[in-house]
Amino acid sequence: MGKNTQTYLVGGVSAIGGFLFGYDIGVISSILEMDYWKAYFHNPGSVGVGVIVSLLTAGCFVGSLCAGWIADRFSRKRAIMSACVVFCLGAAIQCGSRNRAMLIVGRFIAGLGVGVLSMSVPVFQSEIAPPHIRGRLVSLQQWAITWGILVAFWIDYGCHFIDSHASWRVPIGLQIVPAVILFVSMIFMPYSPRWLVDNNRIDEAQKVLARLRSGGDLHAPEVMEELDEIKEAVRIDRETAIRSYTDLLRVPIRRRVVLGVLIQALQQLTGINVSMYFATSIFKQAGLSGNNAPLLAQGVNGVVNMLATVPAILWIDRWGRRKTLMLGSLGCGITYFIQAVAKGATQHKTYDEDGSLNLNIPKGPSYLIIVMMYLFVASFAMSWGPIGWIYPSEIFPMRIRSKANSITTASNWIFNFVIGLVSPILIKKITWGLDLIFAIIMFSSIAIVYLFYPETKNRSLEDMEVIFTGSIWSHKDRKRIAEYDDANKGHVDAKMTKDF
Ligand code: BGC
Repeated sequence: MGKNTQTYLVGGVSAIGGFLFGYDIGVISSILEMDYWKAYFHNPGSVGVGVIVSLLTAGCFVGSLCAGWIADRFSRKRAIMSACVVFCLGAAIQCGSRNRAMLIVGRFIAGLGVGVLSMSVPVFQSEIAPPHIRGRLVSLQQWAITWGILVAFWIDYGCHFIDSHASWRVPIGLQIVPAVILFVSMIFMPYSPRWLVDNNRIDEAQKVLARLRSGGDLHAPEVMEELDEIKEAVRIDRETAIRSYTDLLRVPIRRRVVLGVLIQALQQLTGINVSMYFATSIFKQAGLSGNNAPLLAQGVNGVVNMLATVPAILWIDRWGRRKTLMLGSLGCGITYFIQAVAKGATQHKTYDEDGSLNLNIPKGPSYLIIVMMYLFVASFAMSWGPIGWIYPSEIFPMRIRSKANSITTASNWIFNFVIGLVSPILIKKITWGLDLIFAIIMFSSIAIVYLFYPETKNRSLEDMEVIFTGSIWSHKDRKRIAEYDDANKGHVDAKMTKDF
């Protein structure tokens, strides 16, 4: 057994939370296009669709805000388990929906569960991980999100052949299965060692570290060293008495809150969920005809998203966060720009009887748009997808970590909510203008990352104090951090060269 097998196992199991998250995001996209669904809910227009899509994210927003308190008070592990229960309730209501109101309420309740999961899973993963694989471990949740979206797409695709209302009820109901699996498996997973130390349960923390790091050897040097580091960090946290929500607005935490909120907002402002929620209708607009073609193209989108996350899992701890984000932004920006030009230059708008818009783009440019959309998703999946979750989960001190992450996660959901609500309207109204807006945001984000985001790869969670106490201009602060590294050379080198 490899040295980190247990850590991967625990991180992998908790990542099922990401699967639920992704499934819920993915399942709705193709259902919106199903004839039985449209008939049952009286053909919702773009505002109605926006509300149905976004109420999940509104629930996620509320859930993530509550998650900070739940994960501190009852532990990260129990937060994950309670989220499964709430999620199942929401999924059951949606599955049995008799009208639009029930569907919306069900989506909101499922969203509460997903919101709690989306905050507690990355925090849990980052707290059980050694520094040199922390990025990889949190990327597992992103990978699970992409699997969730992918599986949902294909289940939707299979079910759209069913000639009854089961075509949409089955894909919605099936998500209860992974939620039950996650709940049951979490019973056997340990508590976060950092949460245990913070709650004065030192012996248990030592046992967990031994299980994760040394095959059960309670007194292994790496276990003792990490335990001491955590105890010291918790002691300093207590001395500085940083603990409450108001501390998030004070120095030295404020800068990290702004960076965490901004990275999550920018992750959504990549526009990823326009392609996750509405790709089927965009493919239709772009000229893919028939009932199957847009759905199939959306299924391929899911495969691209999942596959392109793999390089991040393998190499994110080598590439680093900054470089990867900037390259990702460049890729996203270019692909958006090409889509904008291709649509702008060739589109000729007409409307179907049901009000849906066709852009009547000729074959060549329409294939170019589809390829660019896939390349955009790939650029996102390698960069902003995982790092949007990794970065906030690793930059805060222990005592404020879950509260701070509940705020940064809420920022992700609020932007997700707004985009879900307005983009169906904008896709129709300004078509290629939306691509151009996203391109501009992406090019600007390169400068934002370069100027403000310090590198965090390979740092222990306890090291973050040093990284984030200097100037807010990260490109100017490198000298100070290099001096710190020189002063701690042996220590830092040892951390970085541990088996990868
Ligand atoms: C984002 C989701 C998005 C997904 C796509 C996640 O990191 O937070 O909003 O749908 O990636 O893979």
